[in-house]
Amino acid sequence: MGNCFAASSKVDATLPSTSGASRSISKTTTPAVTNDSSSWKNSNGSHLPSPRSESEILSSSHLKAFSFNELKNATRNFRPDSLLGEGGFGYVFKGWINEHTLSAAKPGSGMTIAVKKLKPEGFQGHKEWLTELNYLGQLRHPNLVKLIGYCLDGDSRLLVYEFMPKGSLENHLFRRGPTQLSWTIRIKVAIDAARGLSFLHNADNQVIYRDLKAANILLDAEFNAKLSDFGLAKAGPTGDRTHVSTQVMGTHGYAAPEYVATGRLTAKSDVYSFGVVLLELLTGRRVVDESKVVVEQHLVDWALPYLCDKRKLFRIMDTKLEGQYPQKAAFAAATIISKCLNTEFKSRPQMSEVVASLEELQSSKFAFKNTPSERQTGYDHIHKSPLNQHRNQHRSPLNLTPSASPLRSKHQSPYRRG
Ligand SMILES: Nc1ncnc2c1ncn2[C@@H]1O[C@H](COP(=O)(O)OP(=O)(O)OP(=O)(O)O)[C@@H](O)[C@H]1O
Ligand SMILES: [Mg+2]
Repeated sequence: MGNCFAASSKVDATLPSTSGASRSISKTTTPAVTNDSSSWKNSNGSHLPSPRSESEILSSSHLKAFSFNELKNATRNFRPDSLLGEGGFGYVFKGWINEHTLSAAKPGSGMTIAVKKLKPEGFQGHKEWLTELNYLGQLRHPNLVKLIGYCLDGDSRLLVYEFMPKGSLENHLFRRGPTQLSWTIRIKVAIDAARGLSFLHNADNQVIYRDLKAANILLDAEFNAKLSDFGLAKAGPTGDRTHVSTQVMGTHGYAAPEYVATGRLTAKSDVYSFGVVLLELLTGRRVVDESKVVVEQHLVDWALPYLCDKRKLFRIMDTKLEGQYPQKAAFAAATIISKCLNTEFKSRPQMSEVVASLEELQSSKFAFKNTPSERQTGYDHIHKSPLNQHRNQHRSPLNLTPSASPLRSKHQSPYRRG
């Protein structure tokens, strides 16, 4: 059973909230990536010795070490019109490289890449940059974004990823206007993200992702979803230990209440965050939204009572779906959400169980059939919308420039805990 009536998002009344979800950054510093697991699975499923020092991480064999000038050329000198988005730790630019030599290519030719350029903000940024290199440099899975290389040149720190043409789930889910995210696509995105997490949790040396949120789920041209941003990832507990004690890091609203309260991190913290993302997918609402009336500002508190009531669930479903979802499947998804959001973390399902439950939603048992409108497939909606045919995904209002992005307030006012 889930916990449909628990007020599980009231995790820390002392934390000031901002519009949207804000990143929690601890001021306390810890050594870079030293406590991580002793061996790693690479793309072939074999084991690699754990990189423990910066030089070992950087010499990781299959990552390309780019010079700053190469990336400058690849992104046309980080031109503003190459900007894909802004995060808390830097700007992301579109660029092009030769797919064989990985050297800078003419815009529009070769392989498209996304280049994240960190703001020069000291140790925390460097630590997350290195953690990302450590994990993404070695883990390969269809639902994890591919890291191609990095640049460490003087004070400059950059990361080079495969380009994800449809940008982040956040931009699709919360932008104004019609959506491309049909019910079918939403379930597919949820399955992909769940598979990515399940892979991390079930690795020989468990990895806890710690930063699952709509902004960190990136979409390719076919809406395949991949997890990005491994800067906060952490090795799971080993031996008899049940949890990892650590600074509370993550994003307000998505972080599990017991983790925020105690600093005790388990894979079930990721399961909670997944429940929040699935709830966002169903409702089309942000986990924290101060533009709403007070009772609706905290999505989890507001939505939980509806998740267990078949007759009332429609009240919280995203109106942009225009009722085009199978009711039985929506209720099954709501049940998964309430299980993931259980305040008793041990009672939350494993991510592998979540994957299996979500996959069932794609079966004929849960197909569109309740009403005539349900019979329409989710994908029909994409082709019908003239707006969808012409929209340039990466020039959406949420993504245009750093100064135009409503996400900015999030990045400018992270709550900090000492
Ligand atoms: N590989 C990529 N391909 C295409 N676009 C990308 C890629 N990586 C990031 N982006 C774009 O850049 C934006 C900023 O990403 P970034 O990871 O820096 O920040 P964030 O996840 O929004 O927030 P934060 O990192 O502060 O938690 C994303 O929302 C997305 O639109
Ligand atoms: Mg991100």
